[in-house]
Amino acid sequence: MRSNKRVIVALDVETSSEALELVSDLRDEAAAFKIGLQLFTAAGPDLVRNIATENQVFLDLKFHDIPNTVAKAGVEAARLGVWMFNVHVAGGSEMMRKTVADVTDFCSRENRRRPLILGVTVLTSSDANTLAEIGIERSTDAQVIDLANLASDCGLDGVVASPAEAARIRAAVDNKEFLIVTPGVRPKFATNDDQKRVTTPRQAILEGSDYLVIGRPILQAKDRVAELRTIREEIESAENG
Ligand code: C5P
Repeated sequence: MRSNKRVIVALDVETSSEALELVSDLRDEAAAFKIGLQLFTAAGPDLVRNIATENQVFLDLKFHDIPNTVAKAGVEAARLGVWMFNVHVAGGSEMMRKTVADVTDFCSRENRRRPLILGVTVLTSSDANTLAEIGIERSTDAQVIDLANLASDCGLDGVVASPAEAARIRAAVDNKEFLIVTPGVRPKFATNDDQKRVTTPRQAILEGSDYLVIGRPILQAKDRVAELRTIREEIESAENG
């Protein structure tokens, strides 16, 4: 893992110009920039292509559809030049295997680096009641671990998970290179916003996270660069034990 450059900044803003300003301020300190449903719906693929030219982009659109459609969307994400994108593991093994195969094929034909493909197990906004509503009568923990293993078996590179689940996923999945990307991280001095189970950057690293997705604590800071530097120092101290 590269130094302490492990923060993926969530570009949760409304317009391209706000996003581009953030990218230009933070590009030296961030590992990557995450473009999610809000910004993608507002600004579209041109912005993704633009930011991806000189930065690592995590396209967080959580694809969930039939195998052919998700695989084709994955190929388009690769064509945009993103570094990472994600799919819902609940879409099943055929969908995940086809996506990995088609994207790998496309990238080797085009001589490009294949994007990392992550799985979403159970959304952190879901609990046992949410699962019961859709007919899943087991703990979220058991569901998360089984879906993480399924993602790994299908050749995905990692999962998005709550920091509270990271250590158990790390222990359960055989592939030791499996990436764990965790949102819900709050430096000690920040408010929790609507994140219910929060972890500090230090704890998240100690639990086994590879990358931390952080939005509002950075976006709403008076000095965003200073905020991100403070977070990186905390990560570095966790890396050094
Ligand atoms: O502002 P905040 O740091 O809470 O932003 C976290 C980001 O991570 C948001 O873009 C949110 O959509 C995303 N995310 C999350 N929980 C998940 C998956 C993604 O908070 N389980």
